[in-house]
Amino acid sequence: MDQYVTGSTIKVLREKKKLTQKQLAELLAVSDKTISKWETQKGLPDITLIKPLAETLGVSIGELLSGQLFSNENRSANLRKGNFYVCPVCGNIIYAVGNGSFHCCGIALPPLEAEAIDSEHSLKAERIEDEYLVSCRHPMEKQHYLSFFAYLSAGQLQIIKLYPEQNAESRFKIHGHGTFYAFCNRHGLFSITV
Ligand SMILES: [Fe+2]
Repeated sequence: MDQYVTGSTIKVLREKKKLTQKQLAELLAVSDKTISKWETQKGLPDITLIKPLAETLGVSIGELLSGQLFSNENRSANLRKGNFYVCPVCGNIIYAVGNGSFHCCGIALPPLEAEAIDSEHSLKAERIEDEYLVSCRHPMEKQHYLSFFAYLSAGQLQIIKLYPEQNAESRFKIHGHGTFYAFCNRHGLFSITV
């Protein structure tokens, strides 16, 4: 463990909770002298008290130990501002509407950025009645293929999984303006906005 809880973290969190040392002591069944010792760095809370201390102070154990408080900024996330993550080992697809850290197959996945690659990696979206036909002139071979198409529009994300030997095309029900994405297992993410 790199860091253990510090006295100043306990003090700041206790005061934020509007608890006196005595009140916090009672909640944790320790003496108020003990709390004072922790806060002045003359003693450390026993490991068995870390969880109840975090709960009482209303923070996660990670926040208590690191002294860094995280506020959840994902609550009113905008679907359109999310990120795709793809596992290079198993091909798992993750779409996150807010910041976070995502792991798959033991790997920390970076958020993908759609970028223009070349003409082989460019999408065509044609309107046919109430659908978009999305297609791409891209190989669909075992070693090099598109693994999914996605259609991201207001409040909705549709993903169609693709497999080698299939055609690189899919149909999506029209759901307003949006962006189509495709992911190539070799070259990454690219998109077209309609
Ligand atoms: Fe490719």
